[in-house]
Order: sequence, then structure tokens, then C-alpha cells
Amino acid sequence: MSEDKVTITLGGKTTECPVLVGTENEYAINIDKLREDTGFVTLDFGYKNTGATTSKITFLDGELGILRYRGYEIADLAEKSNFVEVAYLLLYGELPTTAQLADFNQKLKDNSDIPAEVATILKALPKGTHPMAQLAAVTVVLSGVYKDGAKLTDENYINILAKFPVLVAMIIRNSQGLDFVANDKNLDYVANFLHMAFGKPASDVLIDAMDKLLILHADHEQNCSTSTVRMVGSSNANVYASVSAGISALWGPLHGGANQAVLEQLEAIEKDGGDTAKFVAMAKDKASGFRLMGFGHRVYKNFDPRAKILKKACDEVLDDLGVQDKKLTIAVELEQAALNDDYFVSRKLYPNVDFYSGIIYQAIGFPTDTFTTLFALGRLPGWVAQWKELKENKEPIGRPRQIYLGATVRPYSDITER
Ligand code: CMC
Repeated sequence: MSEDKVTITLGGKTTECPVLVGTENEYAINIDKLREDTGFVTLDFGYKNTGATTSKITFLDGELGILRYRGYEIADLAEKSNFVEVAYLLLYGELPTTAQLADFNQKLKDNSDIPAEVATILKALPKGTHPMAQLAAVTVVLSGVYKDGAKLTDENYINILAKFPVLVAMIIRNSQGLDFVANDKNLDYVANFLHMAFGKPASDVLIDAMDKLLILHADHEQNCSTSTVRMVGSSNANVYASVSAGISALWGPLHGGANQAVLEQLEAIEKDGGDTAKFVAMAKDKASGFRLMGFGHRVYKNFDPRAKILKKACDEVLDDLGVQDKKLTIAVELEQAALNDDYFVSRKLYPNVDFYSGIIYQAIGFPTDTFTTLFALGRLPGWVAQWKELKENKEPIGRPRQIYLGATVRPYSDITER
């Protein structure tokens, strides 16, 4: 390997692969020409070692536990910024001036009304439809209303960002069989969301906690749902369809659905008598098929920096609300047991963002099955920024290769002869 290229020889054929170095000194071998020159493709289940794109949005170092949006440390943003400002930063690459932020906030308010048909659709969905299914459904429906949604326009980014908190709040009410609360354009983004979700003004402590949670979820580079948004967007599907696909990807318990799963697991442990050692032992026993939800991460092999911030926020919110939650005690015990257990230590399995977020969501009063819609609300600016970047970069349609392992050619047999 030379400084800037790798020569690969396979079956007597040679290709030269340029080495790409990122601004944080990450190295990649560009294998664009590998198949053309040698006939080989690479194989990487779950894309564990494959960079699908170059990006200027989020930097993450899983070994060092670093997360930065556009170069700004997540801890600084969580402490000093607010969610709307972070959304602006992710979308446009720079922190806004006072005037830019005021204009952005105003546009978000101006575009926040939901078409009346969407409310009707929500009410018509089968009773008990999971909130994530409701969110994916109505988000894709918006592509029927905003038919220019595939265009790279401010109008498109702002429109979806403006409508999303209103949609999520309506879904939170709908899944409890409650009437919708009117959208109040005098309130700011997060305050209005909480007001619409609970039907009463939210305290400053709750608004701050929610704001922080949303910031911590706002982007996470090429994770499962974001890669889905980029993949769908690469076919030139519009932003609502792309985001709807991302919502479906996020729903699974190995991804965003873990926040619901964590809380259900803590409840199950509590019901069972609270013996955390028993559940840690089960998690270590592969035959049990049981995993400790909220532990482990594909890229963090060190403490998830978001979990660190959330743990502190969790204590503050519970303290402020005066909530004495046995689940928090169980969570702390689980965390300590795992951090001191060789199984978890050797596999670098630390608590992730979903470990604490569920406890805070529950303390605020959100029903457990709505937790993942809150993750989606937070992740939206990241999805839209990544969708925008994909299109600005004019990236080609996503289309991986495969290695076929099925039957080779064989003659069709008549049904009477099988
Ligand atoms: N409990 C017990 N064992 C685990 C866990 C866990 N939560 N997570 C991973 N392991 C073990 C796994 O069995 C494997 O062991 P071995 O090497 O002996 O076969 C090893 O650790 C590596 O696990 P993996 O499944 O190969 O790792 P991955 O990178 O494919 O999966 C993960 C990452 C997040 C899907 C996984 O850690 C997991 O299922 N965690 C629980 C679900 C969860 O909390 N998900 C939320 C992720 S954070 C929010 C987000 O960004 O989506």
C-alpha cells in the first residue's frame, strides 16, 4: 500500500484503489473499479466495514466515544443549544445567526398545519395500530399532498420539519383514544409539541429535557434508518416517502425500538422480583436468546456519549418531577452488573442512548409504545440533512451486489412429475 493507493491483484488481474482520508483521519479504500478490473466484489454482511458514502454532517468515533454534528461536540450542543438550532445546523452546515434562527423558527410555525385528511386517516386506522406504523403511514401520505417533495428546496425541508411534531403529538393522542389538541403557533417547536401531546402547558424543566433528548437523537451518521432514508432517496423518491421508510427501519427493537423494549424489560425484571443478576446471567447465556436491551452498539465500543448525558438528565428530571422509580434502581444495578462483568467488558457492551431515554419518557408521561416516535422526531433533521446531502452530491442509486448461493440452472419440471 502506498500513501494514496492500494494495489490489489486477484486471479492475475490487478486494480489500483485510491485511498481516501477523511478530515478526522479515517482511511478508506475506494473499490469502485474492483469488479470492473478483477471480476471480484466485496462481501460485508450488515455493512460492518463498508462506507456507503462520504458525508460532512456527523462525525462519530466509536472507540473514543466521540459524537459531533458539523464539528460541534454533542455535549456542547446538548448543554448550550436548542433543537431547532441543531436542526438548522444539520441542514445548512453552520450555526444560525439570531436573524436566521428567528426566520427559521417562524417558517416552522407557518408551515406546521396538517392537512385535514391526515387527521381523518389517523382516526380511521385500526384500533391498536402501533404509533410507529401510524407515523410511517401518515408521513408517506404527505407525499400525496406535497407532490414536489423530491425537489431540493428549502420549502421541502422546512415543511416536513414543521409538520412532524404536530403529527407525532396527534399520534400520541390517537393511540390513547384521546381527542387532538389544536396546534398553537404562539408556542415554540418543543413547547407546542408537548402541549399538543398532553393537552396542557409543559413546564420549563420538561421542555428543556425534551429539547435535550431531541438534540441527542438528531443524527448518528450512517445507521440503519439513515441508510434507509438515503437508499430510498437515491431512487429519487420524495422526502416524505424516504423518511417514511426510515421510520419503518427505526421501529425495530435492535434500532430505535430499543427504547420501548428497554422499558418493557425493566418492567419485566421489576415484576419478576427485581433480581438483576438473574437477567444478566440470561443475557450471557446464548441459548436463552435473551439480550439486555439498551446495551451494546454497532459502532460504540466505548461508553455511548449520548447515554452519559442522558443519565445525568434522567436523574434531574426524576428529581424535579419527584418520581421515585424502582425501574431506575434496577437500571443502575443492571448497568453496574454489566460494567463489571467480563462478558460485557470483553465485548465492549456499554449502555446506549436507549437505556435511559425510556425512563425519562415514562417520567414525562409518554405511553411506552410511543417512545420510538420520539426518537423519530429527534432523528428527523438528521434524516432530512442526509437526504439533502445525498441529492446535492448527486449520488447514484443504491444497489448492492450479492454472491448467489442458490441452485444453478435446472430444467423446469411439469407439476405432474414432481
Ligand atoms: N446483550 C447481550 N449480549 C449482547 C448484546 C446485548 N444487548 N449485544 C451484543 N451482545 C453480544 C452478542 O451476542 C455477540 O456475542 P458473541 O461475540 O459471543 O457472539 C457480541 O455481543 C457482538 O454482538 P453483535 O450482535 O454481533 O453486535 P452488532 O454490532 O451486530 O449489534 C446491537 C449491535 C445494538 C444490535 C446489539 O448490541 C443489540 O442487539 N443490542 C440490544 C438492542 C439495543 O439496545 N439497540 C439499540 C442500539 S442504540 C440506538 C440506535 O442507535 O439504534
